[in-house]
Amino acid sequence: MEMEKLVALCKRRGFLFPSSEIYGGLNGFWDYGPLGVELKRNIREAWWHDMVTSHNELEVPPGAPSAYAMVGLESTIIMHPQVWKCSGHYDLFCDLMVDCRESKRRYRYDQLYGRWVQCQGRRIFVATEAVGQEAEQDTLQKALRFFNLRSRDAEDLQWLGPVQPLSQVQDLQQVLGPDAKTLGTLTPPRMFNLMFETYVGPVQDEASRSFLRPETAQGIFVNFKNVLDSTRVKIPFGIAQIGKSFRNEITPRYFTFRSREFEQMEIEFFCHPSTSRAWYEYWRNRRFQWYVGLGLSSDRLRLREHSPEELSHYSCGTADIEYAFPFLPPGEFGELEGIAHRGDFDLRSHMEGKLVRQGDQFVVELDEEGKPRYRGSGRDLSYFDDETREKYIPHVVEPSAGADRAALAFLCEAYAEDEAPDEHGVPQKRVVLRLHPRLAPIKAAVFPLVKKDGMPEIARQIYAELKPHWNVFYDEKGAVGRRYRRQDEIGTPYCITVDGQTLQDGTVTIRDRDSLRQWRVHQKEIVAQLNELLA
Ligand code: GAP
Repeated sequence: MEMEKLVALCKRRGFLFPSSEIYGGLNGFWDYGPLGVELKRNIREAWWHDMVTSHNELEVPPGAPSAYAMVGLESTIIMHPQVWKCSGHYDLFCDLMVDCRESKRRYRYDQLYGRWVQCQGRRIFVATEAVGQEAEQDTLQKALRFFNLRSRDAEDLQWLGPVQPLSQVQDLQQVLGPDAKTLGTLTPPRMFNLMFETYVGPVQDEASRSFLRPETAQGIFVNFKNVLDSTRVKIPFGIAQIGKSFRNEITPRYFTFRSREFEQMEIEFFCHPSTSRAWYEYWRNRRFQWYVGLGLSSDRLRLREHSPEELSHYSCGTADIEYAFPFLPPGEFGELEGIAHRGDFDLRSHMEGKLVRQGDQFVVELDEEGKPRYRGSGRDLSYFDDETREKYIPHVVEPSAGADRAALAFLCEAYAEDEAPDEHGVPQKRVVLRLHPRLAPIKAAVFPLVKKDGMPEIARQIYAELKPHWNVFYDEKGAVGRRYRRQDEIGTPYCITVDGQTLQDGTVTIRDRDSLRQWRVHQKEIVAQLNELLA
C-alpha cells in the first residue's frame, strides 16, 4: 500500500487534517475529522471495555497468575513539577539533537546517517535523514551536487563503506549536513528536553514553571494511595488511564506516528514482587492478542523482547508490540505499545526522591551537599497485605499504548484496493477500508434503491430505528453502486438497501463490505441482525 493514498483518503473523507491548516499547519499536530474522531473513540472504547469495564475480577483470565481487579483514573495534564523531577523526566527525558548553522534546521542525532565518499582529492561524510535504499540515493544526489558533478559522472565518486550512523563520525568538520551546501555546518550534539513548559498562575518565574505531561503514567503513580484508600481493591490490581500526552519531538514525522500531542492508553498494574515476572508475561501476551483480535495481521505485527542493553534504567523486562508500517523501510517495524516491568522504581521515587542506579541497586540521587537531589513526597506508598501481614512496595507492570499509533496501524492494515460489481453487475475498482466492525466509524448505511415509490420513507424509518443503537448513515443520492463504494472507502461494514421487494414483503438487502455477499432480512429483524453482526 502506498502511504500517500491513505493520507489522501484520510484528508478527503475527514479522518485526519493537519492542525491549524488554514494557517499553514503546525508540525507534529493533527486534528481528527468527523470520521477520524469516531474511529479513535471506538479504539479508546474497545480498550477501556476490554481492559477495564468488562473485566471480571472474580475469575482468573486465561494465562493470568490469579484473579485481579481493574479500575480507572483521569488525572490532570499539568501536575506538580516535583512529579517530573522525581520520575526522572526533568533530567533524563531528552533526545540528543544537532543544529545546522547553514539551513537552520534541527535534527535528532540518532536519526542522522550517512556515507563516506572520496572525490577530487577530498574525503567527506554525506549525512542524510533518509534510511535504507533511500539513504543510498539521497547521499548519491547530495555528493553529486557537492562535487559539482552530473549523474553520468557518478563513477568519479569513490564510496568508502556502507551507510552508517552519524554518531560514528568523530570530526563534524568533514560532514555535509542533510540540507547544507557547505561542510562542517552541524553543531556537536546536545541534550534537548522533550517536555513542553508552561507557567501556572499569573507570575512567570521558576516557582511557577510547570510541564505538560509527557506520559499519563505518573498521574497513576501519584494517585496509587488515593485509589487504595478510596476503593476496596487489593493487590494484584491495575489502574487504567486514557489521556493526552505532549512531547516536543525534535523531528515529528510519518503522519501521526510521531506527533507532539498524542493520546496514550496506559495501565499500571500493581503486584507482589514475587509474581511480577509472571504478570509481565501475562500482560505482554494479552496486549498482543488485543491487536490481533481487532484485525492486525500477525505477519505485520510482532512482539519484540528488548535485549538487556536496550532496557530503560528502571526495567527488568520490556517488550514492544510493533507494526510494519508501510512508510518504514522494508523489514523495519514501528512501536505501537511498550510493556515494561518497572519493578518498584516509580513508587519508590515518589516516596524517597529521584533514584539513580548504583551497581544493581537504585538509590536516592544526592546533590553536592549529600542531600536528595529531588526530594520525594515523603508519603508511604507501600502496601500492607492484611492476610499475610506483609508490608511491601508493589512492583509494577506497565502496558503503555498510543491511541494515535493504534489508529494509524488499523487504518494501514485496513486499506485495500479491489473490485466490486456496480448496480449492473459490472466490476468497478474500489478502495475499501476493511476495519474491524468494532472500530468502523459508521456501522451501517441505509439506502433507498431509488428516490421514489415510497422507498425513501421506509429507508428513513429504518435509519431512525437504528440511530439510537449505532452510528448509521442515510444516503439517497446517486447510483446505488456508487453509494456502496463511498461506504466501502470509509470502512462501513454493512449497507442496507430498501428496494422494490421491500414494498411487497417488507424485506431489505444487507450487503457485507468484505465478502460482498447480499442477503434479505425482514425490516423488523435488522436491529437483531446488526446486533449479531457487530458483536
Ligand atoms: N509510560 C511509558 C511511556 O510513555 P513510551 O514508549 O514513551 O512509554 C508509550 O510511550 C506509547 O505512546 C508508545 O508505544 C507510542 O504508541 C505512544 N507514543 C509515544 N510517543 C509518541 C509520539 N510522539 N507520537 C505518537 N505516539 C507516541
